[in-house]
Amino acid sequence: MISPTMQNALNEQINLEQASAQLYLAMSAHCEGKSFKGFAHWLRLQAAEETTHAMKLIDFLLDRGGRLELKTIPAPPTEFGGIIQVFEQTLAHEKGITAKINALFERARNEKDYASEITLQWYVSEQVEEEASVGQIVDHLHAIGDQGGAIWHLDSQMGKRGKA
Ligand code: FEO
Repeated sequence: MISPTMQNALNEQINLEQASAQLYLAMSAHCEGKSFKGFAHWLRLQAAEETTHAMKLIDFLLDRGGRLELKTIPAPPTEFGGIIQVFEQTLAHEKGITAKINALFERARNEKDYASEITLQWYVSEQVEEEASVGQIVDHLHAIGDQGGAIWHLDSQMGKRGKA
């Protein structure tokens, strides 16, 4: 049986993953509005991935006999600025999520909740991957700037995510 404190912490993380999905969906629509279909596609897939992160935690919580307490998902902004700003905000968001995952992992370790620790290990690794991939996009965007032909080439590359 999961501890009440771990149950609360997992419910909070589930809410954060759902809020991430909502945020990336809003960013995707923002990019779509600027005709950047590739960036929009990438963010739409990212939103779907965040939902799977939430589901995986929900399954784990329920398997441990915990109680799912879904919370309100805050409305994301509708305006994010230029493409560089969109991905800078994505990177900042992911860094915030990494801090939350690390705190959750530490809680599991302090509580000697080995099952949670093992499950959260996957999230620790996933955050390394997410920060690396978004960091690379931000670097590319800084290198090319968000005007001119190169941005459309990058947009087309981003549109290939999940289609290889
Ligand atoms: Fe589920 Fe992007 O962290």
